[in-house]
Amino acid sequence: MTLPAGYYERLIASLPDAVVAVDRTGQIILWNPAAEALFDRSATRALGRPVGELLGPGSQIVRDIRGVLASGESRLLADGELERRDGRTLPISLVASPLLSHDGAVTGVVAIVRDLSRLKQLEDEVRRGERLSALGGMAVGIAHELRNPLGAIRGAAQLLRREAGPGSPWEQHVEVMFREIDRVNRIMEQLLDLARPIPLNIVPVNLAQLLDRILLLHEEIGREQSVQIVRHYDPSLPPVPGDEDRLAQVFLNLVKNGLEAMPGGGALTIATRLPLTSPFETTQRALVEVQVRDEGEGIAPELLDRVFDPFVTTKTGGLGLGLAIAHRIIEEHQGAITVESHPGKGTAFSCFLPFKR
Ligand SMILES: Nc1ncnc2c1ncn2[C@@H]1O[C@H](COP(=O)(O)OP(=O)(O)OP(=O)(O)O)[C@@H](O)[C@H]1O
Ligand SMILES: [Mg+2]
Repeated sequence: MTLPAGYYERLIASLPDAVVAVDRTGQIILWNPAAEALFDRSATRALGRPVGELLGPGSQIVRDIRGVLASGESRLLADGELERRDGRTLPISLVASPLLSHDGAVTGVVAIVRDLSRLKQLEDEVRRGERLSALGGMAVGIAHELRNPLGAIRGAAQLLRREAGPGSPWEQHVEVMFREIDRVNRIMEQLLDLARPIPLNIVPVNLAQLLDRILLLHEEIGREQSVQIVRHYDPSLPPVPGDEDRLAQVFLNLVKNGLEAMPGGGALTIATRLPLTSPFETTQRALVEVQVRDEGEGIAPELLDRVFDPFVTTKTGGLGLGLAIAHRIIEEHQGAITVESHPGKGTAFSCFLPFKR
């Protein structure tokens, strides 16, 4: 069978991995579209130039290509890093092999570079889910243990209230006891929320309406803090199957965090859209994205990994449960939640929720 003309060119052009080839002198002779995207340089700019000049002589890829040119042996790098022009570092894998002539001489090198960031993100997601369920399980154990003694204390306080009677000098103290007992109870309810199965009451949810309801509750606080609330709703968004109350809890926590991050004012943007890229690598599902973005202090890089863990908080009086609960609820909806933050600039949380086309 003969292949149609240009078949191999098209094949290489449609590969998701970056394919780069150089001749014996290190000049670039092949640069596919995935390479254009990964290295952020067009083929027009790349072709014919020395690879060391284009990508920097010290870069991992250039070193490996040189190594293959010198030795004639393939190289494989399973966990490399690529410093992008925008300063981001991407995890990559790299395979570099010699291009051989008929008589076995090395005429060049072909390198295949794969962007592993999506894969890594997915692995992090899975690990985070496992860690959360372990922590959640422990929290629920503790909450169960505390329930009975707390019930007993509440009973005793009730007796005290009755004995002391209205107008007694103890009345205020007893009221403090009630208030604090009820506070502990609420915390425990939240804890239990974290680990027990959540029975979802799934209905078609109009996200714009739901978000508006939550934002209405925060308009006053926003005004006091000179926070400008900006809505960017995609009007073409379909209703999303979900539990309204639970989803409200998620967005409420995100909006609250956003406001708390901007004591000095700024913009809080709530956007809905059909996302261009999905956080799910393996399945091409139809998703909607709800993003809550602030211009607050941002999250320190060393904390970013743990913000969804329960009891991680930097706030006095914070419990560190808001995001853990949000994560749990989004997961129950078969969705995903991601965070991106730039210290000093702001933070964006994105919730991805599946719907059927
Ligand atoms: N929008 C944000 N901007 C900056 N930091 C944030 C933001 N959202 C969350 N964080 C950080 O993540 C931590 C955990 O957030 P989370 O909502 O889980 O708990 P919390 O707000 O501290 O307490 P609460 O249980 O009352 O929600 C916060 O203490 C804060 O340090
Ligand atoms: Mg919070």
